[in-house]
Amino acid sequence: MASTSPRSLPAFAVEVQDLRKAYPGSNGAPAREALKGVSLAIPRGSIFGLLGPNGAGKSTLINILAGLTRKTSGQVRVWDKDVDRESREARGAIGVVPQELNFDAFFTARVLLEFQAGLQGVPVRERQTDALLAAFELTSVADLRVRALSGGMRRRLMVAKALVHNPPVLVLDEPTAGVDVELRQSLWAYVRRLNQKGTTILLTTHYLEEAEALCDRLAIIHEGQVVANDRKTTLLRRLDTKRVQVRVESGGPTLPPALAEQGWALTAPHLLEITYKPSATALGPLLAALQRHGFTVADISTHEPDLEDVFLKLTRRG
Ligand SMILES: Nc1ncnc2c1ncn2[C@@H]1O[C@H](COP(=O)(O)OP(=O)(O)OP(=O)(O)O)[C@@H](O)[C@H]1O
Ligand SMILES: [Mg+2]
Repeated sequence: MASTSPRSLPAFAVEVQDLRKAYPGSNGAPAREALKGVSLAIPRGSIFGLLGPNGAGKSTLINILAGLTRKTSGQVRVWDKDVDRESREARGAIGVVPQELNFDAFFTARVLLEFQAGLQGVPVRERQTDALLAAFELTSVADLRVRALSGGMRRRLMVAKALVHNPPVLVLDEPTAGVDVELRQSLWAYVRRLNQKGTTILLTTHYLEEAEALCDRLAIIHEGQVVANDRKTTLLRRLDTKRVQVRVESGGPTLPPALAEQGWALTAPHLLEITYKPSATALGPLLAALQRHGFTVADISTHEPDLEDVFLKLTRRG
């Protein structure tokens, strides 16, 4: 548990340096390198998103932070504690909601939280079982066995379970996979509230809109390597590309070569399109060129890159 004084709070909630993980191959197959030298620093107080295609290594990284998977090499610190040399402290500083829901389905929700608190060494008088059950709207099912809970309830219970020891770092591996819209919104709201109260959040997600809505920093991991790591806004600007579609009222059926050279393309009758770099080119002169060649602009629509564009550009296969 984080009982550090404000003066000694770490600048980074999690620090990972040159982290490598090779899973041994089975049946004589070669080892599989899931992480190939990952370095990341997660600022204390942030909501940090880890994105990447299936098999990129996200869960491997998270499981190493949680002490569930052994790394092959590299340094990992959680809340300034080395996961090898100070493993108990490092584990106490982190709560992890794993991607796969795995818990003893014969326990009731309440017993499960109590049991977990016991495992984490939380003294009985400091337990917050009822408050957690209430926060995740599980009070009415608290005494049902876990196997009688719906999938969404189980997922909420997993988040509650990760929080029994009040860790300063909460890690959520795909928190809203298979979760309905309403529950997703309420989980987001809960995560934001926790973060406002000081918890650092690390989450992986395949829902880019989730990353856009929640995270202030994002790392994209691809085939075991970090291919981007930046503030969300910087990442979005980084593509430096903008697409503009112009509907014209008049003008010839073909595109004058000078306009084609500039990058304009005729995508449909009366519809012209250009992709340009806002840092190098302004839209005004591009439109002026259209007018010089006898086109009258009727309508303009612009397309700014979103996270999906960034993601695809950085992780496209081949
Ligand atoms: N226990 C394991 N034994 C062997 N290989 C594994 C094991 N766990 C993961 N891998 C391999 O490591 C690579 C990374 O897997 P990982 O689960 O970390 O990816 P991920 O980014 O979480 O993917 P997803 O988005 O599908 O959850 C994959 O090639 C996977 O097959
Ligand atoms: Mg995963």
